[in-house]
Amino acid sequence: MTGIMKVVAVGLVLLLSACGGSKSTTGSAGKMSAIEAMGITPPDSPWEEMSVADKEFYMIGKVNPIMKELFAAHDAEEFAEFDCVDCHGEEMREIDFKMPAPSMYIVPPEGTPGHRGMMSTFPETVKFMAETITPAMGKLLGVENFTCAGCHPSEARKKKNAATPKRKPSKTNG
Ligand code: HEC
Ligand code: HEC
Repeated sequence: MTGIMKVVAVGLVLLLSACGGSKSTTGSAGKMSAIEAMGITPPDSPWEEMSVADKEFYMIGKVNPIMKELFAAHDAEEFAEFDCVDCHGEEMREIDFKMPAPSMYIVPPEGTPGHRGMMSTFPETVKFMAETITPAMGKLLGVENFTCAGCHPSEARKKKNAATPKRKPSKTNG
């Protein structure tokens, strides 16, 4: 089995065990933990080199079930229905799962009044995001220095402005 197939296979086992409530060695609730089953580990091949289809399988089979557990452990009620859409936004299919999703909460740059406002409005969430979610996402992708900006926009979407000249893509590294 390739690494991707393994991940999908484990994902399917998880789905089946979640529905069937079959015999399970982990947990008394009869549910296998995705974190225990797969671990918060990087993909077998470098994330940047994976095809979009493989990325999608990896999201479905591993990232989503593990993140669901992390979010539910933080607030079971609020994140009972946690799914792709919580990270990718309602428009996820239209924008081909590009991240950060423009509809996500905007995390203002550090040192700005907006950032201080966020810290005082959402102290608990920011702590959870900084200490749990951001490092876990970095590990799951095998990407170093993953930041809030990997999931949250850092400024409001700019209106498309006809006056802004289009820049030619640079071809220096061809
Ligand atoms: C916890 C947040 C989170 C959840 C939940 C999540 N994703 Fe993702 N996903 C990301 C991030 C972050 C990236 C971009 C990683 C990068 O390349 O920097 C991504 C990338 C992708 C990509 C690749 C897009 C591209 O063109 O490179 C696809 C496809 C995708 N996700 C599909 C899904 C699907 C389907 C689900 C639900 C089963 C899902 N994701 C759940 C965070 C999430
Ligand atoms: C892997 C993706 C991911 C990363 C990285 C991430 N977040 Fe989040 N964040 C989310 C998701 C998903 C939610 C919940 C959105 C929802 O409720 O649907 C959220 C919610 C929030 C909220 C609450 C917004 C609201 O309206 O309730 C704040 C504040 C926040 N994040 C700040 C941060 C900060 C600061 C960082 C970096 C330290 C960060 N996030 C990193 C995915 C991420």
